Amino acid sequence: MTANELRRAFIDFFVDRHGHKEIPGASLVPENDPTVLFTTAGMHPLVPFLMGEKHPSGTKLVNVQKCLRTDDIDKVGDTTHLTFFEMLGNWSLGDYFKEGAIKMSYEFLTEVLRLPADRLCVSCFAGDSDAPRDEEAVRVWKSIGFRKHKRGEPAGTGQIYLFGKKENWWGPAGQTGPCGPDTEMFYDTGVDKCPGCDENGPSCDCGKYVEVWNDVFMEYNKKEDGTYGPLSQKNVDTGMGFERTLAILQDKETLFETELFRDAIEKINELGVMHDMIATRIIADHLRAAVFLLADPARIKPSNLDQGYVLRRLIRRAIRQGKKIGIDKPFTHEIASVFIETYKDAYPDLDKLRSDILNDLSEEEEKFSQTLERGLREFDKAVAGELTGLNAFRLYETYGFPVEMSLDLAKEKNIPVKKNLKRAFEELFKKHQDQSRAGAEGKFSGGLADHSGEVRKLHTATHLLHKALRMVLGDHVEQRGSNITGERLRFDFNYPDKMTPEQIAEVEKIVNKQIAADLPISCEEMSVEKAKDAGAIGLFECKYGDIVKIYTMGDFSKEICGGPHAKSTGELKSFKIKKEQSSSAGIRRVKAVVGV
Ligand code: ALA
Repeated sequence: MTANELRRAFIDFFVDRHGHKEIPGASLVPENDPTVLFTTAGMHPLVPFLMGEKHPSGTKLVNVQKCLRTDDIDKVGDTTHLTFFEMLGNWSLGDYFKEGAIKMSYEFLTEVLRLPADRLCVSCFAGDSDAPRDEEAVRVWKSIGFRKHKRGEPAGTGQIYLFGKKENWWGPAGQTGPCGPDTEMFYDTGVDKCPGCDENGPSCDCGKYVEVWNDVFMEYNKKEDGTYGPLSQKNVDTGMGFERTLAILQDKETLFETELFRDAIEKINELGVMHDMIATRIIADHLRAAVFLLADPARIKPSNLDQGYVLRRLIRRAIRQGKKIGIDKPFTHEIASVFIETYKDAYPDLDKLRSDILNDLSEEEEKFSQTLERGLREFDKAVAGELTGLNAFRLYETYGFPVEMSLDLAKEKNIPVKKNLKRAFEELFKKHQDQSRAGAEGKFSGGLADHSGEVRKLHTATHLLHKALRMVLGDHVEQRGSNITGERLRFDFNYPDKMTPEQIAEVEKIVNKQIAADLPISCEEMSVEKAKDAGAIGLFECKYGDIVKIYTMGDFSKEICGGPHAKSTGELKSFKIKKEQSSSAGIRRVKAVVGV
C-alpha cells in the first residue's frame, strides 16, 4: 500500500463503511490556543467540539492531520522519532463510545490493512485515584478474542495489558481541557524479544512492539487546578501513526526506509561525502518539518520567537549536520525540492508555494553560514571544558547556534554537558525574549479549552475589531492570525502602514458603540457558498468542511468561526487597544482588552 493509498483507505473506511464526515486537516499552528505552539495531535483543532460546541459536520468525523512535536527533538536520528508526522484520526463527538471505537479500529487493522490478528496486542488503563480501571475497554477486547495478560507470564500477542496514566491516559493537549483513558494497539514486528520485553510487554521501547493506534475515551476535563471533572459529552479521539503504519505495511524496518523518506535520503547520501545514518535522518526529519512549516497557512518564517524559533532551530541543525557529512554548498533547497515532489499530491500547497519555501530556506541558510564557521572555530573556547546553559545561550546569541546543535557538538567532541542544561538555557532564553519584547506572555493560560467568560468575550471582541478595522482601514484588511489569553486578545491583519492614533481611536469608538448597543449574538450553520453570499467574512479555506458556522452580531458583523462567543456584545462592557505594532512585513498586530 502506498502513502496516498493508506490515507485514502483510512478516510474511505470511516466515511463509506461507518458514516463519518471527512474534515480538512488544520494548520500546524493552533488557532486561538496559546497554550501550545503547535498542533500536536488531530484532536487539537477539535477541542471546542470535544468540550460540547456543535460541529457543523456532525458527530462522527475523520481526517488526516499534520502534527509537530518538539519534545523529543534530541532523539531524532534513531529509528522511530520524528518531529513532523501525520496522524490519521476518527472522532465521535458524543456519538459512539468505547465499543464502537475499538471494533472499528480492529476491523480497519485486520480487514482493510490486513494485519494478521495474531501479531496484535493491546493495552488499557489500569485505573488510579482520578479514574477507575477501564473495564469496558477490556470487555470489548475480550469479546473480540483477546485475553488478559497474567502477571509473570511471557509477553505475547493476543493479550490485553493494563498500564497506568503514563501509558494509557491521553491529554489534555495543552494545560487544560479534554482528556481520558485510552487503549493502545501494538504490532509485533517479529524481531526477537529484548531482555525487557517480558517484563514490560508492549510498553517496552526496544522496537519489537510498535504502537500503531491509540483510541482515547475523552470523558474528562482537566481543570486549571489540576483536578479532573466530567465533560458534558463522552467523546472518542483516535490517532493512528501514519508513518509507522506505512513502515509496517511496506515491510520496512524503519520509517526512514518508506517512500516518504526514500528519495530525500538518497539525495542526502548523494550530496554528502561521509556516510552517517544519524546525521542523514536528522537532516531528513528536520527539513521535512521545515517544508511543512514554511508552507503552512500560518506562514511561519525563521525567527527568534515562538514557532519561528522552532523552525530556525530545525533548519540550522540540519545545516550543521549537512556540514558534518561533508556537504560544502547550500543544500537545504535541494532536499526540500525532493520532499515537495514526494508530498505534492497529498498536499498541493507545497507545490504552489514551492518558490517561497525554497527561497526562505536558502535565505536562512545564507544567514546562518555567516556565523556558523566562526562559531564552530570558537566552540571549544566558548564552552571552556563544559557545555552549560549560560555558554550554550551565549553561543546562541553570538553565532545563532540552536541549543540542540551545541548539544550535538559537545557529544561529538566528548565535552561534558551540565545537568539540566536545556532548562537553564530556556530560562535565559525566556528572560531574553521578555526583555526584547513583551515576551511570550500568556502562553500557558487560557486557550479555547478555557471556556471561561473572559475568553468568550475576547473572542467576540475579535470579531468586532475585525469589522471595525475594515471600516477604518479598508475592505482589503483581513485577519492573518489571532491569539487569545484570559487577559487580552491579539489580532494580526494585513496592512502596510502603522495605524495613526486617530485610526486607533476611531476603531475603538466603533467597537465601543457596538458594545453599548448590546447587539444580540446568534449562530447559524450553512454551506460555504451561502455564507459567502450572506457577506460573511473570515477564513474560508481549509476550515471545517462544507458546512460552516456563522456568528452574527446584530447588523454589524457576520463572520465564519467555530465559537464560542458571548451572548450579546454588552457583556464586553468596553474595549481598548493597548498596543499596535508590526508583526512581520506587511502585517500589523493589535493587542486589546475588554471590560476595563
Ligand atoms: N490524541 C491521541 C494521540 O495523540 C489520539 O495519541
